[in-house]
Amino acid sequence: MDILHYQKDFIDYLESKKWVREPKNLYEPIDYIIKLGGKRMRPILTLIGADIFSDDYQKAMPAALAVEVFHNFTLIHDDIMDDAPLRRGKETVHEKWDTNTGILSGDAMLILAYQFFENYEPSVFQQLAKLFSKTALEVCDGQQLDVDFETRNDVTIDEYINMIRLKTSVLVAAALKMGAIVAETSEENANLIYDFGLNLGLAFQLQDDFLDTFGNPETFGKQVGGDIIENKKTYLYLKALEVANDHDKGKLKYYYRKKLKDNVVKITDVRRMFELNGIPDLIKTEIKNYTDKAFDTLAAMNISEENKKGLKNFGLWLMNRSV
Ligand code: IPE
Ligand code: IPE
Ligand code: MG
Ligand code: MG
Ligand code: MG
Repeated sequence: MDILHYQKDFIDYLESKKWVREPKNLYEPIDYIIKLGGKRMRPILTLIGADIFSDDYQKAMPAALAVEVFHNFTLIHDDIMDDAPLRRGKETVHEKWDTNTGILSGDAMLILAYQFFENYEPSVFQQLAKLFSKTALEVCDGQQLDVDFETRNDVTIDEYINMIRLKTSVLVAAALKMGAIVAETSEENANLIYDFGLNLGLAFQLQDDFLDTFGNPETFGKQVGGDIIENKKTYLYLKALEVANDHDKGKLKYYYRKKLKDNVVKITDVRRMFELNGIPDLIKTEIKNYTDKAFDTLAAMNISEENKKGLKNFGLWLMNRSV
């Protein structure tokens, strides 16, 4: 089925819920972030997962909503941690309200996410909760590593890949697997679709890192250059250290040891060095490698060709995005 069809179905379900209650100062920021939009890729994946392995993907709606609410909670806290002013083209929650609001509204969303599992009978509930708890803890691990790397100058590409696996990929993978769990398919199917999501998630975060530096500020919806400002040790930076000459390497290391008030020169200069060293092409190749790896997992799966095509289309949609 068409991706946009799942997306619309999910948004209708999300909008049928009432998000604001008392105290308003706790729930209005939740309503705000949830209705800001976004691609809704994780809930779409949950619905696709359920659709592939059952004849009723509607029953995966609460699980899909749990994933999206959890994701939006991580965004609120991530924007505090990354000092980010913009999200989906609008002010971040901590900018519009304040940091304390962002912390508590985020906490409440994490709990709300779990509550959606109460729609399932005990055996499915238990499997969902178990996967979700494991995944949520891994996301915390990844987020801590991401922050730790800001002030480390010996981060390797392997460490970076492990970090993005934790902060991003496991949730993409779990979103799909939750659909498979709701569909009550075999463990083997559920694990294969998880592996597909894991590689797709790595490609997705690499693309996010590319767009953070090279995206179009008019359409990207986040502050372009944010990762450079925060000294994020992304693939762009780590690869540049591998291929650049000593002069550029020295300059990059110098820039990434400092936090500045005015970042205009730093961003322009770093972007230029990335470009001169061919980093955009190198990251594109890496994105393709992980996408292909995900597609290889598909080949091993015992599902119809039509479903494989659907998952492939989703992968391609994701990789060609500009937001
Ligand atoms: C942003 O996720 C956080 C990352 C893991 C890169 P998305 O790019 O899926 O954000 P929305 O939900 O579409 O806004
Ligand atoms: C975010 O990574 C991962 C999580 C939210 C868990 P980023 O910090 O790169 O995400 P964006 O770019 O702010 O969306
Ligand atoms: Mg972050
Ligand atoms: Mg961020
Ligand atoms: Mg990012």
